[in-house]
Amino acid sequence: MTGLRVLDPGCGAGHYAAESLKLGAAEVVGVEGRETLLGAARERLGDGATSTITYRRMTLERFLSELLGAGFVLERLVEPRATGGARLVDPRRYDKTHSQPSFLAVRLRRG
Ligand SMILES: C[S@@+](CC[C@H](N)C(=O)[O-])C[C@H]1O[C@@H](n2cnc3c(N)ncnc32)[C@H](O)[C@@H]1O
Repeated sequence: MTGLRVLDPGCGAGHYAAESLKLGAAEVVGVEGRETLLGAARERLGDGATSTITYRRMTLERFLSELLGAGFVLERLVEPRATGGARLVDPRRYDKTHSQPSFLAVRLRRG
């Protein structure tokens, strides 16, 4: 990760951001909708003091539409769901991930 610029959408309290910096990222931008989590992330890692990490509070929907507005092209959007076999292991959790999915992966490229 050395020298890379990392975007951490849904950064929460900044666990991945911290790990990215540890692995040598040159810059990290964390985007998160919940102020309490951003507060925890700022407390842990600072906010721009070292010019390597900044946080933006906004919804991921808005953030994505800003990227598209700036000319990025959405190549792929995946909302991972548990496979059928998971229902046998934990039916309650399986049903929850299908009725309330909470993870989204996107791939964008510059247009
Ligand atoms: C599963 S947590 C992951 C947190 C962090 N990446 C980590 O691993 O510790 C998902 C995060 O995305 C944020 N999030 C989910 N949907 C969002 C949305 N529509 N807009 C902004 N943030 C959102 C949640 O507040 C939460 O902090």
